[in-house]
Amino acid sequence: MSKLRVHSNWEHTVLVCTKCSKKLDGGFGPKGKQSLAKALRKHLGLKKGRKAEAGIVEVKCMGVCPRGAVTVIDAGGPGEWLLVPKGADLDGVAEELGLGRG
Ligand code: FES
Repeated sequence: MSKLRVHSNWEHTVLVCTKCSKKLDGGFGPKGKQSLAKALRKHLGLKKGRKAEAGIVEVKCMGVCPRGAVTVIDAGGPGEWLLVPKGADLDGVAEELGLGRG
């Protein structure tokens, strides 16, 4: 029988709209050129894939489409979505999403 489960180290899962990120042409990171998902991963020093302590997953448009911001969902508390403004402080964003520094 094939294996039906794999282990993951993720303690948190965050969904980030990839289309919002494209519209901002990056918008985050030291030079403002990285997408929010990439900048957050780097900022937190996350490993790759399921070996990371948290999953930051880029997803399709979620229908909010804020101007100058990126829609983000904390999968642990999906009742309220975050609209992260371009260039927002990544420590603050991580804190809001419950992503401690790795
Ligand atoms: S483009 Fe990001 S929510 Fe629609």
